[in-house]
Amino acid sequence: MIIVTGGAGFIGSNFVASWLASSDEPILVVDKLTYAGNLENLASYRNDARLLFQAADICDQPVMEQLLQQHSPRAIIHFAAESHVDRSIHGPAEFIRTNVNGTFSLLEAARGYWGGMTAESKAAFRFLHVSTDEVYGSLGEQDPPFTETTPYSPNSPYSASKAASDHLVRAYFHTYGLPTLTTNCSNNYGPFQFPEKLIPLMIMNALEGKRLPVYGDGRNVRDWLYVADHCTAIMEVLDRGRIGEVYNIGGNSERRNLEVVERLCEILDELRPDAGIGPHRSLVSFVKDRPGHDQRYAIDSGKIQRELGWRPSVTFEEGLRRTVAWYLDHMDWVRHVRSGEYRRWISLQYGSGEPSK
Ligand code: NAD
Ligand code: DAU
Repeated sequence: MIIVTGGAGFIGSNFVASWLASSDEPILVVDKLTYAGNLENLASYRNDARLLFQAADICDQPVMEQLLQQHSPRAIIHFAAESHVDRSIHGPAEFIRTNVNGTFSLLEAARGYWGGMTAESKAAFRFLHVSTDEVYGSLGEQDPPFTETTPYSPNSPYSASKAASDHLVRAYFHTYGLPTLTTNCSNNYGPFQFPEKLIPLMIMNALEGKRLPVYGDGRNVRDWLYVADHCTAIMEVLDRGRIGEVYNIGGNSERRNLEVVERLCEILDELRPDAGIGPHRSLVSFVKDRPGHDQRYAIDSGKIQRELGWRPSVTFEEGLRRTVAWYLDHMDWVRHVRSGEYRRWISLQYGSGEPSK
């Protein structure tokens, strides 16, 4: 079996779905269920004996050790993290705690467990650390995309904490021989993304006729990958990646933020022509920029393509349509996750009350 930390979050829950669609190997999800973790994301598997769930904090090393002893996994896929850059600017401490100390505790627990395995199980064991392209810093308009050898240059408390965790994972491979793999991926989007990240926030605000808060001039560039493609990439790396290696994963879909928001507006104009709002793009509103806002991210995913034959299968156009359709079909899910904590965040980030026109 495998252990998936953060499996009740956005990418983790999509990973569980991808895994169980193609394998009967059981999964234990270990998740603290922060504001971003939600058991509803795993509701389809409520009666599926292949999925176990344990509420736990990855910083709690004795509990991590006990779970490893109890379940004897052949791999840990480590998604658990604080993941929102804007939140890291308002309150970095939790990012250091979970992303740095939590990854350290998990590595220590894994090292102890792995050390006690038979030689054969030891060789087969994997610790796959899921990281981000943000560790590489910010690119200029004409710079080549990030490769696995681009020097680290994190600019936000979030990316600095992820960079620190990447370094720890690297050290555990080089020092102790723990069979690690690290993936650095670009911006994901798709079902179950918490509606404070760009794409779901804009979909929900547009549906409700609220302003669409674009930071700065909207010219910052992100590379977008449909979440299911990220999950297949992780499965390929787990299966055939070379231990100790890093694999960059990207969608080859660079877009300016304003382009993304305008495209979402066009899709909503088409799918919700009778919303009584007029063209949804009239809701676009330029707001104060994110402090230290990275200008551009772009990923060269040549290594994973060459070595493992992985490629994104969903185009940005298609993925965006699927994502909008998913949110339109899952308004109950959205209602449930917009808890008191969500409202507190929106008020802190965008001023009093939810953004309104
Ligand atoms: P998310 O915020 O949606 O989910 C994070 C999950 O981790 C939640 O279920 C949360 O409850 C859990 N968690 C947080 N702190 C924990 C702790 N101390 N112990 C146990 N569980 C804890 O994040 P996501 O967008 O799904 O990202 C998952 C991983 O992928 C993160 O490591 C992130 O850095 C990385 N990543 C994300 C993206 C992206 O675009 N979202 C891109 C590249 C890499
Ligand atoms: O690049 C990978 C990273 O992508 C992941 O490591 C992070 O976990 C994930 O959250 C994401 O980080 P970003 O900061 O790029 O995502 P976010 O959705 O917060 O913002 C995307 C872009 O949109 C960014 O340039 C900021 C901008 N933005 C965001 C919000 C929430 C706006 O213009 N307005 C907004 O209201």
